[in-house]
Order: sequence, then C-alpha cells, then structure tokens
Amino acid sequence: MSDILLQIDGKEVKAKEGMTILEAALSAGIVIPTLCHHKKLEPFGACRICIVELEVRGWTRLVVSCVYPVEKNLVVRTRSEKIDRIRKMILELLLAHAPDSVHLQRLAEEYGADKDRFEKEASFCIHCGLCVRYCAEVKKMNAVGFVDRGIRKEIGFIPEVAAKVCWDCKECFPLCPTSYLQAAYVLTEGLCFPRASAGREER
Ligand code: SF4
Ligand code: FES
Repeated sequence: MSDILLQIDGKEVKAKEGMTILEAALSAGIVIPTLCHHKKLEPFGACRICIVELEVRGWTRLVVSCVYPVEKNLVVRTRSEKIDRIRKMILELLLAHAPDSVHLQRLAEEYGADKDRFEKEASFCIHCGLCVRYCAEVKKMNAVGFVDRGIRKEIGFIPEVAAKVCWDCKECFPLCPTSYLQAAYVLTEGLCFPRASAGREER
C-alpha cells in the first residue's frame, strides 16, 4: 500500500491508502472527537461529531472524518469556528437525550454546549450503534439490535440470545456513551430471564 501525504492542522501527516482522515489524524496524535467510532468496527458515520473541514482550491467543505478516505495533498482542519459551532449543536441535541452522560458532558465543556438548550427527550440512547455493531461484528452474536425506525428507533436485547451469552460477556457495556445500554440489559434480564441471573448470583 502506498503512502499518502496530507496536511492536518498544519502538520504533514503520512497515511496509508484506504485509511480514513480520522485514522490518519489519530496516527499523528491529533485528536478528533468521536461518539460512534470504534477501531474494531466498520465505519458507521452516524453521530457526525467527527466532522472536519477540507480546504479545496480556497473553498472549504465539511466531511465526516471517520468515513472519509485520505487523499493525496488534502488540507484538513479539525477545529474552526464553524466546526466548533456544529459540534456544539450536535452535543446540545444529544444532551437532550442523555443529560447525565459523563462522556457528553466532557465534550460539552470543551465546545461550550448548553445541556439545557433543548427540551429533554430522556430516551438516554443516542443511537451511536456501538453496542449493536460490536455484538454483531466482533462477537458475532447479535444479542442486541435496533428495533423500530426513525425517531422511534431504540436498541433492544434479544432475550433468547441474551439469556445465553450476555452474562459472561458484557463487553459492550463500557462502549456505551450513556447509561442506557446497561439499564436496557438489566430490564431485559429482569423481565425475560430472571431465573437465569438469580441462579448465577448464587454461584
Ligand atoms: S445503548 Fe448506548 S451503545 Fe447502544 S446505541 Fe444506545 S447509546 Fe450507543
Ligand atoms: S465518529 Fe464519525 S460520525 Fe460518529
């Protein structure tokens, strides 16, 4: 694979063909915030917090860095007034769903986002898909999935699968940027396979 030279925040960065801008930035120690990215998973491009600006012939263009591939001589900016404004808005919208998320609060502080700007939705899941994709792509279990679509979309554990595999795994729990995943699991376990968990506690 040939090397590709590009510029990120004024720094010359050497990347491999096929890498995304996010991967190239990370390899050069440049931090771009992410919410739906995980290095073991296929790019998803859902949260949009990782947007960056490309400079092309004097014009700027916004792209999602976790899915956009590196190109020769790209000039990339990871922070600007416009980028920060968009990240602030994204965070304010997400905080309406998960106001207590420590992860979101940390980013909100950095981008000056107001967690009370939008009316609370209190659905807690921000649809990053990390749990669903990790379980499918890494664990090959599909114990958790998205149900419904659009604004009614939410994640749910598949009780028949979860009862068999989740207790000894739970690798998705720390991936969740909110507390929703764990709560959803506890609820599913309590409602659908309580005896299985009670038996394990006695072990
Ligand atoms: S439950 Fe958590 S990890 Fe899963 S999609 Fe929602 S916010 Fe993401
Ligand atoms: S991290 Fe890139 S869209 Fe979520």
